[in-house]
Amino acid sequence: MTYRESGTYRESGTYRESGSNRESSKGAPAGASTVGVIGAGYVGLPTAATLSHFGHRVILAESDPGRFNTLLRGEIPIVERGLLEMVRDGVDRGTLRFVSDATEAARGSDFVFFCVPTPQGVDGSADLSYVEAVAKEVGPVLRSGAIVVNKSTVPVGSASFVERIIGRDDIHVVSNPEFLREGSAVHDSLNPDRIVVGADDQGAAARVGQLFAGTGSPLIVTDTTTSETIKYASNAFLATKVSFINAVAGLCEAVGADVRDVVLGMGYDKRIGFEFLRPGPGWGGSCLPKDTQALVHMAESAGYDFSLLKGAIAGNEEQLDLVVKKAVSSLDDKIEGTTVGVLGLTFKAGTDDRRSSPAVDIARRLVGLGARVQAYDPTVPAFEEADDLAGVRCCADVYEAVAGARVAVVLTEWDEFRWVDFEKVKSAMDRPVVIDARNILDPGAMKRMGFTYVGMGRG
Ligand SMILES: NC(=O)c1ccc[n+]([C@@H]2O[C@H](COP(=O)([O-])OP(=O)(O)OC[C@H]3O[C@@H](n4cnc5c(N)ncnc54)[C@H](O)[C@@H]3O)[C@@H](O)[C@H]2O)c1
Repeated sequence: MTYRESGTYRESGTYRESGSNRESSKGAPAGASTVGVIGAGYVGLPTAATLSHFGHRVILAESDPGRFNTLLRGEIPIVERGLLEMVRDGVDRGTLRFVSDATEAARGSDFVFFCVPTPQGVDGSADLSYVEAVAKEVGPVLRSGAIVVNKSTVPVGSASFVERIIGRDDIHVVSNPEFLREGSAVHDSLNPDRIVVGADDQGAAARVGQLFAGTGSPLIVTDTTTSETIKYASNAFLATKVSFINAVAGLCEAVGADVRDVVLGMGYDKRIGFEFLRPGPGWGGSCLPKDTQALVHMAESAGYDFSLLKGAIAGNEEQLDLVVKKAVSSLDDKIEGTTVGVLGLTFKAGTDDRRSSPAVDIARRLVGLGARVQAYDPTVPAFEEADDLAGVRCCADVYEAVAGARVAVVLTEWDEFRWVDFEKVKSAMDRPVVIDARNILDPGAMKRMGFTYVGMGRG
């Protein structure tokens, strides 16, 4: 797909408008900065592409040979709508290039963005080993006056931690948390709701804010501790909101209300809004689970008991259990040796990311209970044998996944699941029972076709 063919930029309506430097021909315009970005993942790649789109000279470092070689081949290592075109555009214009060594990206750069993983440590805290390693790697080669930007999600105190590792008076370390959503990362990077910059030096904060001036988004400048807190508080709030609506769905089932209409009635209230107000199989993905755990840990270390968030986490565990229970009870508790069709494996639609995916978690719980699980996901090839999918048979399409199944469970809200030929699904199944853990199907239409339909918080 070429840039011109891409619908994403046109849909967002901002790709051409937002880049004040877009009119320039090849190369970076006068006044552009040189930016090193470390880590070409779900955050680093959109960050690099966005900064290059705004006309800066971006050097993106990726140490994983598989990901790096994919970039060199002119492809991208993740599924993200519109990102390939944006990356190619940067490469073609000469404002984006790839290296495998972080020091090469950092040496001579005005800004160095850390976009490396911060996975969950054994005690629930954020594991800063990647951040620490990069700081040690690039510290000695940074040019005097360079600004290091923590874009990875890092706990309170991390800016000072990186500063101590680098150990140089002539380098500022700034916090600039990322809020993009996988599946709409290009749109979100070009049009963020806000830019948060935490710095102890106002000049450094202003310079980082200036890099994103092309977005026209509100800029919040604060100290590093507050900036680091904003990121965790935001993710904790979103997780709590989903846990809340999942609990409301449970209430709806108990009292006979329809959660769809409850959501409508709540969501139009501007104080509440519709975002993250959708019941489902529980929240997951590469951020919310680890970030909520890290925040609980961080709070505890500081002597604060974040009981509300602990409740949201516990509620989420119950939600994962609930979907499994719905599947088991639909089979009259006879799950051992029974074929179950699973639709969707990624943690949400629009991405290939399966890290801490509720869909994978539920599929594996079903395998653990002795079910023969056949799964289809548009981003997972047939016969995939990944570690996280042990025991799950990956299929080429929906019909293969439901063949011979006594229940089909919709776990990811992929649009294509709404439009499958349900007559064909019905005849492929051993018994037409669907558990719609995402509430994406029409219960009335399903029932009219002869399915037993089980949703979340509705009949
Ligand atoms: N994924 C999201 O939606 C999202 C959103 C907001 C914030 N974040 C945060 O951003 C950070 C990165 O997340 P991600 O999802 O992009 O992770 P990721 O695993 O997709 O990408 C990180 C990349 O960094 C590379 N890397 C690690 N060490 C390196 C080094 N020394 N030199 C060069 N490359 C190196 C890895 O190989 C990997 O490709 C995390 O802290 C995460 O919590 C993620």
